[in-house]
Amino acid sequence: MLLFSIFGEPVTHSISPRLHNNAMCDLKINGCYVRQAITEPSMLIPTFHAMQLDGANVTVPHKEVAFAQCDEVRGIAQNIGAVNTLVKEKNKVIGYNTDAEGFYKAIASFGEMQNALILGAGGTAKAIAIILRQYGIKTHILNRSTSRLDFFKEQGFACTTWENFEIKPYDLIINTTSAGLKDISLPCPELLLETLFSQAKYAFDVIYNQSTPFLTKAHHLGLTCKDGKEMLLYQAVLAFDLFFHQRFTLNTIEASMRKAFEY
Ligand SMILES: NC(=O)c1ccc[n+]([C@@H]2O[C@H](COP(=O)([O-])OP(=O)(O)OC[C@H]3O[C@@H](n4cnc5c(N)ncnc54)[C@H](OP(=O)(O)O)[C@@H]3O)[C@@H](O)[C@H]2O)c1
Repeated sequence: MLLFSIFGEPVTHSISPRLHNNAMCDLKINGCYVRQAITEPSMLIPTFHAMQLDGANVTVPHKEVAFAQCDEVRGIAQNIGAVNTLVKEKNKVIGYNTDAEGFYKAIASFGEMQNALILGAGGTAKAIAIILRQYGIKTHILNRSTSRLDFFKEQGFACTTWENFEIKPYDLIINTTSAGLKDISLPCPELLLETLFSQAKYAFDVIYNQSTPFLTKAHHLGLTCKDGKEMLLYQAVLAFDLFFHQRFTLNTIEASMRKAFEY
């Protein structure tokens, strides 16, 4: 039997096991996907080997650690500096990032856009900034503090804090902060956000399964909105595709995983 796991802290809320187990069941694969909390970051890859896993996903807060610890990093993860998918290949652990492409697939239903503004500067912001640039969308990063902006400066992105930000129109505004996850806060000052929304077409929040104050405001101001559910779905579809070495079409995997959202 093949064995997969989600690694993170916490992992009890993760719906990755539901998505992957449903797809394996549907596609008649003899496999199982479990949850494993990792409290000590240095134990990530040793735990992968100890559990004799065939693959794993990595969530908050271990994506950067996973990047540093795996034997080889492939694809866009090399630019992002974070991996969310680990695949066993012979005795090596190969790291990939499917969050980035998952995000891009999630915004495919939005229309034409020239530029985007990312609120927040954490690991998710890195993945989104790198993929938007790959697809030719000019991207600015806006964060409440300077400490995490170094990565973006080094990569040549325009990036600022709230204090030195000069407002201009952006087609897409993306919330990658956890503002609104467990409270009713906005990811940046309200007046600034309202001005940005009044000039934008689309709003995206990486938080899923709840309407954050960010998305509620965007919706009231007439923007086309999307939460992080489809990003979550597509990163899982792409991870499954890597786990099973392109054995199934992406549409087949997606159809199986979509059913899991309905439970
Ligand atoms: N839908 C999906 O598939 C998906 C995929 C990946 C991640 N996520 C979600 O994305 C979120 C962010 O993850 P991450 O790993 O990027 O987090 P992270 O590395 O901790 O970064 C968080 C960023 O948000 C900023 N921030 C936090 N709270 C804020 C607040 N109240 N107001 C303004 N800024 C705030 C931080 O600013 P400072 O630098 O000033 O601290 C930081 O830049 C999590 O909720 C995660 O679950 C969703």
